[in-house]
Amino acid sequence: VARIIPVETFDLVIFGGTGDLARRKILPSLFHRMVVGQMPTDARIIGAARGKMTRKAFQEFVEESLEEFIDESERKPEDVKTFVGQLDYVALDALGEGGWEELGKKLRKDVVRAFYLSVGPSLFGGIAERLKKTGLATPKSRIVVEKPLGHDLESAQKLNAQLSASFKENQIYRIDHYLGKETVQNLMALRFANALFEPLWSAQHVDHVQITVAENIGVEGRGGYYDKSGAMRDMIQNHLMQLLCLTAMEPPARFEPNAVRDEKLKVIRALDPVPAADTVRGQYRANGEDGSYLDHVENPDSTTESYVAIKTQISNWRWAGTPFYLRTGKKLRGRLSEIAIIFKDVPHSIFPEVDEKRGNALIIRLQPDEGITLRMTIKDPGPGGMRLKEVPLDMTFADALGPNAEVADAYERLIMDVIRGNQTLFMRGDEVEAAWEWTDAILAAWEKGGKKPQAYDAGGSGPEDSLALMHRDGRRWREIA
Ligand code: BG6
Repeated sequence: VARIIPVETFDLVIFGGTGDLARRKILPSLFHRMVVGQMPTDARIIGAARGKMTRKAFQEFVEESLEEFIDESERKPEDVKTFVGQLDYVALDALGEGGWEELGKKLRKDVVRAFYLSVGPSLFGGIAERLKKTGLATPKSRIVVEKPLGHDLESAQKLNAQLSASFKENQIYRIDHYLGKETVQNLMALRFANALFEPLWSAQHVDHVQITVAENIGVEGRGGYYDKSGAMRDMIQNHLMQLLCLTAMEPPARFEPNAVRDEKLKVIRALDPVPAADTVRGQYRANGEDGSYLDHVENPDSTTESYVAIKTQISNWRWAGTPFYLRTGKKLRGRLSEIAIIFKDVPHSIFPEVDEKRGNALIIRLQPDEGITLRMTIKDPGPGGMRLKEVPLDMTFADALGPNAEVADAYERLIMDVIRGNQTLFMRGDEVEAAWEWTDAILAAWEKGGKKPQAYDAGGSGPEDSLALMHRDGRRWREIA
């Protein structure tokens, strides 16, 4: 049975409580936390949105969302009943006056208050300001925001300024849902709770690092948002950057929010500017049944990228000379997120008949089948002489920890961390800005170059230039599927 850390009671207000993220992620996650017994029975969740709705109608709405997003076997009617009993609703004009007083009446004094802004970023500043002005933001309050946290450095700075006009940094929870993924946290356990890897974790022993987030889905219904953003802003600036930071950072002195975030920030600041020649942009084209990127966006001439590959360098003592290759894309052959640490080859091979030399590799798999694999070379069994073979030393968490091991959804952990007041897995304002600064330089180089993204087949393994980016360094990407 998983250990549950109890949390104190809370009032959670979800602005955009009837929106897509609330339906898909926030409410189902809270339901699950209630079922496992982490959510106090007197905790309350208050949906806030523009539309008029009775409490009962909101409860029904949530019930339907749970039906849609939670498997029937995990959804006992009595649990659903208890959960919706903890819900309330208020119709509210986010940037006007209406509804704020009513919201105030619903909130209890002296309990943790969390305001989850599950709304577009253009509303963040206005809501934060009203929370302060109306006195609803107490010292025990927290505000939760999620990407897009800006479109570039300038807008990110503006957003940070708006938030910090009403909340202290230690009250601001910036979600990157990748930080809530089980294996991402396991990366920290792997690195800092095992003595085995750390001595090898540097340019001296690591040839290069590959970070891949490949998706098989396309942009589908999200074309409106995505076309203004592209893979660089949607994935690299945040999710892949966070994975890079956790992989590359120095051991923090303590497992505490600012100690961890200081180390991540140092990594971002040590990133070299990336020349355009070390980047690849791609856009998927139709292939058989699969439509093209352009089928899903308004602009028929869009040059937004649905794929990015980047070679980057971290200029510090630990990593100088070890490239980090990042790639992410939509409509690829498979769904795979992993961090691969490729170690250097042996300095001298005593098995000269082995023509292909490949070093050990440590693969941290985020999804699917979360787990860790160490690639080793062994003797190919049998009497055929000294032939070598690569084998994986594999630990799939589901096998190692048993089928009942609880792998909670990222949002479950993150929301409970908000209530507990633990910011370790949330981004600090300066981190977000530093990541934008690095990203902006690449975006500017692309803009200046005026090169169109290279087309790649939907369902394939990405643009050719991406393969070339590796080949020219005598390396190759790991298979996506
Ligand atoms: C989101 C992006 O932040 O992450 C999406 O906006 C992407 O475009 C998604 O599909 C990927 O998340 P996950 O958890 O499915 O890997």
